[in-house]
Amino acid sequence: MKAWLTRFVRESRWAIPLLLTAVCLALVAAISTRPDLPDEQARKEQILRGRHLVTHHGCGDCHGGVGNPAADGWLVGWRETSLPNMQDYQIGPFRTYARNLTPDNKTGLGRFSERQIFNALRYGLRPGETPDVEITSTTPGEGNHPANPKYLAPPMPWPSFRHMTDEELWDIAAYLKHGLKPVANQVPDSEGPPDFWAGEYTVEKIGPYPTPGFPTANEQMPTTGSE
Ligand code: HEC
Repeated sequence: MKAWLTRFVRESRWAIPLLLTAVCLALVAAISTRPDLPDEQARKEQILRGRHLVTHHGCGDCHGGVGNPAADGWLVGWRETSLPNMQDYQIGPFRTYARNLTPDNKTGLGRFSERQIFNALRYGLRPGETPDVEITSTTPGEGNHPANPKYLAPPMPWPSFRHMTDEELWDIAAYLKHGLKPVANQVPDSEGPPDFWAGEYTVEKIGPYPTPGFPTANEQMPTTGSE
């Protein structure tokens, strides 16, 4: 220790409390400025935004519970039951099942990261068969988009959901991973074509991402003075 500091510590009875306070303040400053440590309040607000989005985007219409987070079977996925709206889907020759969105490790989203859930909603990529990486292109083989993408089976409406903002998709992922209790419910695997629907999810069929500029041929600029 420097000589002046040693003398200060020895001779002043305030030295130790002052030093301790300084250390505490430095710690608090370090913790509160760390960008990767989301503060609890912000996390809670994010989860509530995600819950709101999930409720009004009809996720529960297919994944269970319709629009009621208190309902039996909320987002637990398809199961053999007479609960409202619970059904499987016949898509051409294939039968598909809405999956378990609760964070159960074995049967739900527990084993996937928030980024894998984000990639499912933005790019339609099956979280179980897609690496946990940041994807920057909608074109297979570019920007970490897998060369042979394995897409989610219809009727999962990701071609519409992908137009939500980044923030909205992260909010949904946060709600599913951290705002729900895990429920074990093993949903049967959806059937599908060998190309995992790649032939169905082309730009010609589902449109471009992001959306074309306004106004398209179907739209118009409002004229001033019009009712
Ligand atoms: C019209 C029915 C329908 C709606 C509405 C719907 N989904 Fe799905 N979802 C499905 C089906 C069917 C699957 C299974 C696809 C498969 O097996 O490949 C699925 C799969 C998923 C998966 C992949 C899970 C996994 O383990 O592979 C996620 C994540 C998901 N949905 C999230 C959502 C969210 C979030 C919403 C609301 C914003 C939503 N879904 C709304 C039908 C739907």
